[in-house]
Amino acid sequence: MKNIALIGYGVVGHGVADLLSRNADIIAKRAGEPIRLKRILTARPRTDDPRQELLTLNEDDVFGDCGVSVVVECVNDLEAAYRYCRRSLLAGKHYVTSNKNLIATYGMELTELADHNGVALMFEASVAAGIPVLRPLYKCLSSNHVTEVMGIVNGTTNYILTQMKREGRSFADALKRAQELGYAETDPSADVLGFDACRKLAILLSIAFGRYVRYGDIPTEGVTTVTASDIALAERLGYSIKLIAMGKLTPSDRVYARVSPLLIPHDHLLASVEDVFNAVSISADMAGDVLFYGRGAGAAPSASSIVGDVIDIVTNGRYNDPIWREDYRPLLPVDENVGALFVRTSPSEREKLLKLFPEGTAADEGGELGFITPPGPEAELREALRTSGVQSDATWRVFF
Ligand SMILES: NC(=O)c1ccc[n+]([C@@H]2O[C@H](COP(=O)([O-])OP(=O)(O)OC[C@H]3O[C@@H](n4cnc5c(N)ncnc54)[C@H](OP(=O)(O)O)[C@@H]3O)[C@@H](O)[C@H]2O)c1
Repeated sequence: MKNIALIGYGVVGHGVADLLSRNADIIAKRAGEPIRLKRILTARPRTDDPRQELLTLNEDDVFGDCGVSVVVECVNDLEAAYRYCRRSLLAGKHYVTSNKNLIATYGMELTELADHNGVALMFEASVAAGIPVLRPLYKCLSSNHVTEVMGIVNGTTNYILTQMKREGRSFADALKRAQELGYAETDPSADVLGFDACRKLAILLSIAFGRYVRYGDIPTEGVTTVTASDIALAERLGYSIKLIAMGKLTPSDRVYARVSPLLIPHDHLLASVEDVFNAVSISADMAGDVLFYGRGAGAAPSASSIVGDVIDIVTNGRYNDPIWREDYRPLLPVDENVGALFVRTSPSEREKLLKLFPEGTAADEGGELGFITPPGPEAELREALRTSGVQSDATWRVFF
């Protein structure tokens, strides 16, 4: 019998407790012994909870109990999670977290601490929740050189953009609908400004490219200024607009990374990822292109990954991905990227744009013009647009 403790009893915490009882038989079979939830540490008291006898407000009931060998944390507070993680690792207890903020901010330091104390720190649910992507990256693809990671890793923004495309809603309307359905939080800024995707990308790239990527170094732009017109014009030109988190290794062994709205051609696999779904595509030298698709949020999908981590610890003991021990990796300045640009403007600018970029493509919709430049160094394309005096209402990047 392996005893575990849970910290944080919100959406994901409840999902973990439910999964441990619902699938207890298969979990015991796979882990080789039953896994028992012994304690749940909460921040505030609860009454009438069916697991009342497990609840505690006293941290010592978790960290001071030598019968608890694994701590699962599903807390939405970064500094509290950091404190719990340190305390757990120092007490020689394995730690499983769903907190992307914790790993993107303190991953390197905490992995060192876990190593030092001979325990595991695992975080599969922190990126894309129920989609197994981190472990396949650092285990199944470990013999490959990964060259590119590209994904839709925020379900809230993907739902909003899908609604804007399908229903022609404005950003504000689509956000309101997402909030009514529980897909967006009351304060949606971390999602719509791209911060959530940025932290997930930092974790993915650190693992994919073998050196710690600081999330603060990743240029990040959210979806708040994407309009229904941008989406309609992009559709006419054969593209969908998605919030894409991506990173690629350049031939000079530098990493270009970015989170931003991107026009994706309709025949690209990520263009068909709609609503709250997530997908991550990985390009590797031996395996080729690999796509992971599924539910990137929710109680049950998150719990699936968390309990998978617990079973891995119980069966394999301590395992920490070695990349987290390496130093920070500086990123390529975004201006050095080569790509194409989409411009939304007035139809009166068509001639000027075609003169500047004869190989560009244009489409009209609702009294506006959408124009896609040929590919080139991004900084040069922007400078050419600026100096030609084209009056652009919006400029977005195009997948290249
Ligand atoms: N929701 C998802 O789909 C999802 C998916 C993947 C990852 N995650 C991550 O999982 C974590 C939890 O998300 P959630 O959706 O479950 O959030 P949530 O429903 O808001 O629950 C957060 C929980 O954290 C608890 N908490 C806050 N400070 C605490 C402290 N100092 N000590 C103990 N508990 C504390 C709260 O406790 P009280 O209720 O007692 O106040 C609350 O139950 C976050 O890091 C999130 O980013 C969420």
